[in-house]
Amino acid sequence: MVQEPVRAPEPAAPLVRAQELVKEYPAGETVVPALRGVSITIAAGEFVAVMGPSGSGKSTFMNLLGCLDRPTSGRYWLGGEEISTLSGDQLARVRNRQIGFVFQHFNLLARTSALDNVALPLLYSGCEAAERRARAARRLDQVGLAERMDHQPSQLSGGQQQRVAIARALVNDPRLVLADEPTGALDTHTSVEIMALLQSLNRAGITIVLVTHEHDIAAYAGRIVSFRDGRITEDRPNAAAEAAPEIAAG
Ligand SMILES: Nc1ncnc2c1ncn2[C@@H]1O[C@H](COP(=O)(O)OP(=O)(O)OP(=O)(O)O)[C@@H](O)[C@H]1O
Ligand SMILES: [Mg+2]
Repeated sequence: MVQEPVRAPEPAAPLVRAQELVKEYPAGETVVPALRGVSITIAAGEFVAVMGPSGSGKSTFMNLLGCLDRPTSGRYWLGGEEISTLSGDQLARVRNRQIGFVFQHFNLLARTSALDNVALPLLYSGCEAAERRARAARRLDQVGLAERMDHQPSQLSGGQQQRVAIARALVNDPRLVLADEPTGALDTHTSVEIMALLQSLNRAGITIVLVTHEHDIAAYAGRIVSFRDGRITEDRPNAAAEAAPEIAAG
């Protein structure tokens, strides 16, 4: 009997591959170099913390990963598709379908229920009203806010508002969640709750890249990437990633 040769499985294409990303912002006669050649590969399922001093290029990097902006030079692939050459419309489509964003200040619509905030991105995906509500409700349940769907942001705590924002980021089933200082406006206890939630989403298979200034927060990620002056100066696995204690959602 002829044995089939045993072949090593093809390594899966990385979710994110960036090659020598440069971003310069015009400033009068000169330019501000925000990124000076950033190369990185992120596999599906990773939880990456991005650290570095103010002005080191973290948000600029996140904006490129999130297809909110285009690099001055360099190349970027998301799930094997080259992003750096897409038109504005194509970028918007990738952004809407594949990426979820979480911000420091939640960026929820005021005087709008949690359910409607979460359902909003689905409006642009051509999903009908009943399905929008059902999907938003499912995500709110997943972040522990099943009882708060009709509350407006002003009727929710900071941690609850951030959980609504996380539910909104997830509603389109993105491949990648980008969070720029998601705990920056929260107290320590609430920050740990949010990290526990992000860890549980990551365990469920969602790839997360999170910016933080705090080592205590980065300690919950599986990999820590440090920026300085527009470059990556350190990139290390965090094998001892802490498990954030789950705190009862309320
Ligand atoms: N839209 C813009 N126009 C001009 N310069 C910009 C713009 N956005 C960022 N910069 C500059 O690019 C550099 C990197 O900024 P970036 O916002 O990426 O830093 P950061 O690491 O996120 O800082 P922070 O920790 O304060 O949020 C800074 O020098 C900043 O002033
Ligand atoms: Mg920033």
